[in-house]
Amino acid sequence: MSQNPDRYLVVGNPVSHSRSPEIHRAFADQFDDDIHYDKIEVPLDGFARFVTEFGRSGGCGLNVTVPFKLEAFDYADPCDELAESAAAVNTLRFTAQGRCEGFNTDGIGLLNDLCNRHSLDLENKTVLILGAGGATQGVLAPLLQTRPARLMIANRTVDKAQQMFARYLARMGPVPDTEVCVLGFDELRVKPDLIINATSVGLNGNAELIDPSWVRNVFCYDMSYGKAASFCAWAARHGARASVDGLGMLVEQAAQSYFLWRGKRPQTEPVVAQLRRTLNA
Ligand code: ATR
Repeated sequence: MSQNPDRYLVVGNPVSHSRSPEIHRAFADQFDDDIHYDKIEVPLDGFARFVTEFGRSGGCGLNVTVPFKLEAFDYADPCDELAESAAAVNTLRFTAQGRCEGFNTDGIGLLNDLCNRHSLDLENKTVLILGAGGATQGVLAPLLQTRPARLMIANRTVDKAQQMFARYLARMGPVPDTEVCVLGFDELRVKPDLIINATSVGLNGNAELIDPSWVRNVFCYDMSYGKAASFCAWAARHGARASVDGLGMLVEQAAQSYFLWRGKRPQTEPVVAQLRRTLNA
């Protein structure tokens, strides 16, 4: 360990639950990289001040979690296309010239998990995403890049989902290859090939968002993990073809951040396995 390891942080409020330090240290071990990665709870009104200070003190990069992803988008300059599409940033990188660049790795994380780890091919398929908050907005563009025939965005409050998608279209322009529809949980008519839970319902417990008949024999994915992955457990109980939690996505989005910071692609499989053991313990 040198006197001056490269310094990274995850910032949020709250942030104590974050597994990012464990994940990034495991990545660094794979390369013998000398990094220091910590988590810091930043006051709700102190995000920009904190990031500026961290950059000035020689910090290399940050992961940003709830509730600062929108502020990070406003702060960063420039932002990459995925961050622009999400209007949210989860990864900041300081350059030698003192700039703070913004990225969003959530969508790549989701797709690497779905398409590589779980071997799904979404082209010409029907995808149902539950929820229309930040988690959905963060993965919409990469999901559409897989060219599903149909994407259904179902939300408890249909108005909010319509507004979210209208803002997306205003930023990104029309969606060429996919029929997108916004609807309520009880307005489903077409059986999907894949159901993704992107609501925060797991935090409150009741995972029965849609009629159980919709999940039977369907691949179900929950962007939550651990105790919050109640949709994953509910779908498994109701006969899903497979039901997967978001642990793989968590590690994949972190791997993409690591690549953006250090130009190296960590192996994710051993880190997913290590986290899975900790969660099950
Ligand atoms: P995030 O940034 O994690 O996506 P968010 O922006 O607050 O968080 O969005 C939470 C999502 O979960 C929303 O789609 C919300 O539905 P509403 O738009 O109707 O509020 C959904 N959600 C949260 N609790 C829910 C519940 N108990 N039942 C159904 N949907 C819920």
